[in-house]
Amino acid sequence: QLVVDILEKETAIPDTRKLVIPGTKRQAASAEDQNAVISALASLASREIVTYDQKDAFTYLLTAEGAQIARDGSHEALVWAAVPPKDSGETMTIKQLQESLGQAAKIGQGKAFKNGWVGKDRDKLFKLVAKIVDTTREELNEVEKTGTLKGGEKAVAELRKRKLLDQKKSLWCTVKKGPAFTTDLRKPETDLTAEMLATGSWKDSTFKKYNFDADGTPTNGGALHPLMKVREEVRGIFFEMGFAEMPTDAFVESCFWNFDALYVPQQHPARETQDTFYVSSPLRGLSPPKDYLDSVAQYHSRGSSDGSSRGYQAPFSKEESHRLLLRTHTTSCSARMLYALAQKGKKDGFKPAKLFSIDRVFRNEAVDATHLAEFHQVEGVVADRGLTLGDLIGFMQTFFAKMGLPNLRFKPAYNPYTEPSLEIFCWHPGLGKWVEIGNSGMFRPEMLEPMGFPPDVRVHGWGLGLERPTMIRYGITNIRSLVGHKVSIDGVEKSPAVRF
Ligand code: PHE
Repeated sequence: QLVVDILEKETAIPDTRKLVIPGTKRQAASAEDQNAVISALASLASREIVTYDQKDAFTYLLTAEGAQIARDGSHEALVWAAVPPKDSGETMTIKQLQESLGQAAKIGQGKAFKNGWVGKDRDKLFKLVAKIVDTTREELNEVEKTGTLKGGEKAVAELRKRKLLDQKKSLWCTVKKGPAFTTDLRKPETDLTAEMLATGSWKDSTFKKYNFDADGTPTNGGALHPLMKVREEVRGIFFEMGFAEMPTDAFVESCFWNFDALYVPQQHPARETQDTFYVSSPLRGLSPPKDYLDSVAQYHSRGSSDGSSRGYQAPFSKEESHRLLLRTHTTSCSARMLYALAQKGKKDGFKPAKLFSIDRVFRNEAVDATHLAEFHQVEGVVADRGLTLGDLIGFMQTFFAKMGLPNLRFKPAYNPYTEPSLEIFCWHPGLGKWVEIGNSGMFRPEMLEPMGFPPDVRVHGWGLGLERPTMIRYGITNIRSLVGHKVSIDGVEKSPAVRF
């Protein structure tokens, strides 16, 4: 306020050290005063109320030795004071002088001779003059009082050389009115509010300028987990190919839908507890439709009525069908959907379908760097009249090519529910080898007939894991840094969306 009030009358302030501090008669000469002035000027300048130029100034302080001289006198003056006048009869030798003055005698002697203050007759010392002017002491006294010397730079340099002064840098300024000069220093408004519009107070308010160069604050949004980013990408590929998504909410499933409906024999080793997590409570799940269960039981134990399949020729337990487990594959979801599709076809006439799912499955396997007891499966099934193995292979080639894997190889394999079955390998250019990525096949009549499909309807399907392609894509070697409590939140937020 002081600055702008003066500027209003004077148009410029040539030296801010001459400002008189309000309420005192003191000038703002000290370094602290100037620092306060400069920070006020900087804030005024940011609002273009003033412009100012910053200048350097030097002030001086006495060193410890300088302060002692200012108090007691210079060494040469001490020497002069100690020696007797010329014809007083008293005598003093150099040795005696040194004994009485110590260090000061050594330093002051030379200068006292040079100044013509003392003389020497052999080893006797005596005063040459009756009076001296101790300039050093006077200059130091002046510096002590004013911080500077009228005698100018040369005198200052001499005292600094003798280590009697320390230099201190300080700043001062010249000030002029700025383009937006005002004496109204109320804080400028940062926002135009509804209230200001309503009361009209905006008319006499000043507004803070927009800073278009300011960095925005980073937003704290949610982020998809890398696994979910890959999931979204794969979903997109399925949708692009005209697939519909299956519901996959039944994590706890019955043996019936997970195994029996898929023609997995009840004596199959994969059903054993080392592979499957069984649920101990509740022990029994809901019953499947009775006709369907009966039909599945017949196909398992004796085969089809026309004798084209002989079944497993082994007992089938409906009790076992009701046991609950954590689903070991999403093919249980496919089985439910295919059964519903076949039943609907019986009523309304069969309609072809392309279905997919991506969700979690559970297996009681040894956990290591690339395997967990739960993981995600991607699965696609296609149902239509007269489908062939060629259709399955063609479909997979299109699908995996869209994932950036155009080079596929197939190897005959075994699944209880498909015949033929194919393992899928892809060439991984990064790893430089063939990698197994999935499993596929034509679903068996023993599975499709009990569901109620017409005999010429064929269903093929394929499945793959989600974790493996994700790990390859993001260069992750340990699954624990992708899933679980060791996952870096930062990494999740920063990992880019993928493009296969
Ligand atoms: N269910 C199989 C698996 O767990 C994948 C698969 C799905 C195979 C559909 C054939 C048909 O690997």
